[in-house]
Amino acid sequence: MPAASASVAKLFGRRKGRPLRTRKSGLMETLFPKLVIELQEGQRTSYAEIFQKPVRVATLEIGFGGGEHLAAQAKANPDDCFIGCEPYLNGVASLLDHLDADGTQNVRVFNNDARVLLDALPDASLDKCFVLFADPWPKNRHAERRFIGRENLVRLARVLKPGALLRLASDHPTLVEWMLFTMDGCPDFRNVYASHEAPVDWIQTRYQEKAIAAGRKPYFTDYCRI
Ligand SMILES: C[S@@+](CC[C@H](N)C(=O)[O-])C[C@H]1O[C@@H](n2cnc3c(N)ncnc32)[C@H](O)[C@@H]1O
Repeated sequence: MPAASASVAKLFGRRKGRPLRTRKSGLMETLFPKLVIELQEGQRTSYAEIFQKPVRVATLEIGFGGGEHLAAQAKANPDDCFIGCEPYLNGVASLLDHLDADGTQNVRVFNNDARVLLDALPDASLDKCFVLFADPWPKNRHAERRFIGRENLVRLARVLKPGALLRLASDHPTLVEWMLFTMDGCPDFRNVYASHEAPVDWIQTRYQEKAIAAGRKPYFTDYCRI
């Protein structure tokens, strides 16, 4: 298991939930070791090293939850290479279930804090990054824990190629307002899409489904790395 750097304060919640069903715990034993990215503290890596081939389109999803979006993106774009970051083991097991059912080969998993992986990747090496329905941390005193913030935008700006896509979505008004304000103040990104309507190539996530069922209206934004 990769060790999160001591300078990286904890952002995410629980790592384990309900005991896994037999099929998923079997996949954690058989498929997970083949897909997991192991990083020692301070180690550098790249998509080419992880996938052991030249990579044309490198995509990252941060906090993939149950992995529906990541699995569907990877299935729809079989020539692209995808890494998903998710510390929550039950979410990882759910992703494996989707990948196994579809026979998807182009996904690797970092079962830890995305900031550790971002710090390990080369400059200007990512084509797309998704941060969808991130934990809202609605209280003002927890604002520092929101994933989209000044420090992580420096990380993202470093690894995204010029012209790369950063897609953000949320159903939480406080987080939406915070993300729009924070992104507006960041000279490295230009807004290219902002709407309550999902972008055309959108794939529904589990949290989005929950938000809609609860009567909340998600907001979708795309940013281009300048
Ligand atoms: C509210 S859930 C949304 C999950 C999924 N994107 C969706 O839309 O269904 C946020 C997820 O982000 C993960 N997360 C939070 N902080 C993270 C971090 N620093 N690195 C990677 N994942 C993180 C959490 O474990 C959680 O599964």
